[in-house]
This record gives sequence, structure tokens and C-alpha cells, in this order.
Amino acid sequence: MAQAKLNVDASKFDLPVVKATQGPDGIMVSSLANDGFVTLDPGFLTTAQCESKITFIDGKNSVLLYRGYPIEQLCEQSDFLEVAWLLRHGELPSRAEYDRFCADLNHRTMVGEDFRSFMASFPRAAQPMSVLASAINALAAFYPDTTDITDPGKLDEASRIIMAKARTIVSYIYRRRRDEPMLYPDVARGYVDDFLRMCFAVPYEPYESDDLSIHALGRLLIIHADHEQNCSTSVVRIAGSAHANLYSAIAAGVNALSGPLHGGANEAVLRQLEVIRDSGESVASFVEDAKRNGTRISGFGHRVYKCHDPRAEVAKHYLQELMARGDVDDRLPADERALFDIATQLEDIATHDDYFVSRHLYPNVDFYTGLLYRIIGFEPAMFTPLFALGRIPGWIAQYREMLADPGTRIGRPRQVYTGRTRRDYVPMDQR
Ligand code: SDX
Repeated sequence: MAQAKLNVDASKFDLPVVKATQGPDGIMVSSLANDGFVTLDPGFLTTAQCESKITFIDGKNSVLLYRGYPIEQLCEQSDFLEVAWLLRHGELPSRAEYDRFCADLNHRTMVGEDFRSFMASFPRAAQPMSVLASAINALAAFYPDTTDITDPGKLDEASRIIMAKARTIVSYIYRRRRDEPMLYPDVARGYVDDFLRMCFAVPYEPYESDDLSIHALGRLLIIHADHEQNCSTSVVRIAGSAHANLYSAIAAGVNALSGPLHGGANEAVLRQLEVIRDSGESVASFVEDAKRNGTRISGFGHRVYKCHDPRAEVAKHYLQELMARGDVDDRLPADERALFDIATQLEDIATHDDYFVSRHLYPNVDFYTGLLYRIIGFEPAMFTPLFALGRIPGWIAQYREMLADPGTRIGRPRQVYTGRTRRDYVPMDQR
């Protein structure tokens, strides 16, 4: 194994290096603790928490691979459930494996009446990500015989339950906000087609699928499926490293994803476009204000991508396809259609402005996805739950990889203490 040499004052350390198949190698620093050192890396910019074989990102060259397959090829030729299988098992499924996986999920999509009542106990206008995290967490209470993570069969069943019921939960969150009843699954339809039906169908009217919306949403689920050790996935892994069950760990991931710096950015992008539209200001002056005040433009920048986010390109392509259809005027009122023009101007200005280019700030996956969810028919409050729906197979795959890794230990970072040294208590009357 290669070695890295570290000299600190008179101390000399030979640190083993773990070779990567692609991307940066890892310098193992664990032994430093024996000599009174810890590494300090706020935000973990250069700290790897694990070895992983699931997803590879090359942030300098806009590369995103799921188990070695380029995201562009998976978007062109695969579908969300096949990608979910690939992330979890490492290989594309055979026809028999794929059909069995789809059937297993189809027969677990429905939730029980008590679970539906539990979800109906939330206020209709409750923040959807709070309801989603609560509902995923509650699956542990409603399916307690699948929480034993030392039993691979039970862990497989929990994985199926979450994958299958997540779309029912998300569709019901959407319908409750509109005072509409839950719709039960129709196993004759595909995953995405049936999800959109469970969201948009009117119980007493025939429902017509929209193939382009199905295809576009299917690509959005694929591009969100995994993204190596992002914030929410790291939360899932660290919760799982304490042997919290799969439901609890994924609920923790949902909560982390809800932050506007992370998965909540897609909704923040649309709100930001509405602010620009309603301000009467030009997009250029909005950008100048952001630069002057140092405020962040939602949908721009990424910890790893220092050039274009390949996922943003996919989302933009399908957004343009849906925008080019003749029915966009029927789908969106004029004041919302104006947001697409503002987004295009914002992208054009920011990607040519040195302030952004010098900081490697490009549109990320969240810049376009909100607009796409909107044109498919969802309100902004549902954008981040839709991100979470896509990310669930990645969270499951990463949790399972963590649990199966013999090198996994409970995640417990250290600190550099800069507080007060030891001092004695002072009684109140002497202060
Ligand atoms: C996701 O990690 C993942 O993989 C996440 C994700 C996934 O699939 O799981 O890809 C999903 O979360 C995408 C990102 C969505 N978030 C946003 O769009 C929110 C806006 N973006 C930022 O807040 C920011 O870019 C982050 C959080 C995405 C990344 O933050 P970093 O890597 O910690 O960057 P930084 O805060 O160190 O910023 C570096 C510089 C700073 O300027 P200086 O102090 O050097 O002068 O860039 C500036 C920042 O002020 N900057 C921005 C900016 N983002 C960073 N300036 C204006 N607008 C922005 N959006």
C-alpha cells in the first residue's frame, strides 16, 4: 500500500494510502489520534467517510456514473426501477430479476387504513417534508417485524416497503393538501405512470396518462437516485452506523434533504424567480444585488461540480421539450410561464459573469427541476418530496453498503477544542 508522509514539528508519520479506481486516493489518518492529533476539515470538503462502489462523480469533467454507467445512458435507455436495482445490487437486472422486483413493489404499494389515518392526522397545509419524514419514520412502527437490521431477509423487506410505499405517501401528501382522497395503486400501470395517476386523477373521471410527463418525471427520478456522500446520504450512513433501523436512517436523510442549501433548493429556486418577477427589477440588477450582498442564488453552485452538473443538462432538456409542447399555455398561467424566461436570463447572466465563473458556480440539478415539476403539475411545496422520492433507492443502497462493510464503525467525528481550559466554580454571591 502506498504511503503518505506527514511531518508535524519533530513528529513524523507514515500514513497508508487507499487507492481509488477513479478519482482521489484516500490517506488513512486514523492513526494520528494515537499521537494526539485529529484532522480538521469543516464541512468535510476533503474528508472521505467511507470507501464506496456505488456512485462516482468527477466534478471537473461533469461525470456522474451509477455503478460505472453514465447517467446520460441510463436516462436514455433505462428506467427508475432498473436504476434502483442497479444501485442496490451493482449490476443491471436480468429480465426475470426486473419483473420480480417490479411485482414485489407493486404488491407493497398500498398502505393500511391505520397508516392512512395516521397521515390524515397532519394539518393539510403541513410542510410536506415534515410529513414525509414522519411517515417514513412511522413505517418502523407499522412494520415492526422488518426493523431487525441483523436479518438480511427483514432488511430486504424493509427496503421493498420503503421503495413501494414512498410513492403512495408522497402522492397522498399532495392530495391531502388539495382535500382529495387517497387513490389506491393500479398495478397494471408502471411506477411513474401510476404515481402521477395517484396524484392527479379525479376518482369519478377517466384518467389519461401524459407520456411526456411520465418520461420526464422518470428521468428526474433517475438523476436524483444517488449522488455519493452528499449531506443527506451521509446522515443516512451515520445514523445507520449506530445500527438505527433503515426506516429511521432514511427519515433522518429526508430531514437533512429538506434544507434549502440541499434538496430544498429546488423550491427555493422557484420562490427566487417569483421574487425577481414580482420585484419589477431586471434579472441583471437582481444578480448585481446578490453579488454586492454576498447572497446565494438558489440553484447555483455545488460542492463537487466545479463545472456543469450533468443532471442539470438532463432536466433542462426535458424542460425545453415540455415547454415546446403546444399545451403549455393550458398548463401554466402567463405569470408562471414568465418564470421560465427569467430562469433562462438568470442562467445566461450568471454563467457569463466572472463573479460566478471565478467561483465555479454553475446551475446545479435544482435550478431546472423545480420548473419541470411545476409544468408536470406539482406545486412548489412538493418539489423536495419529489427529490426525496428519487433519492430513496440511493439511500437504501448506501445504507446497505455501509452495513455490509466490515470496515464500518459507528460514525463519531472528533473536534479541535478551542474553549476555556479547566476552571473552578464561582458561587453566585461571588460573581
Ligand atoms: C444539492 O452534495 C450534493 O451532491 C448535493 C446534491 C445531491 O444530489 O445530493 O447535488 C443536491 O444539494 C445541490 C445544491 C443545491 N443548493 C443550492 O442550490 C443552494 C445554493 N448553493 C450554495 O449554497 C452552495 O453552492 C452549496 C451549498 C451548494 C455548496 O456550498 P460550498 O461547496 O460549501 O461552497 P461555499 O459555501 O464554500 O461557497 C464558495 C464561494 C463563496 O464565496 P466566497 O466566500 O469564496 O467569496 O461561492 C459562493 C460563496 O459565497 N457561493 C455562491 C453560491 N454558492 C456558493 N454565491 C452565490 N450564489 C450561490 N449559489
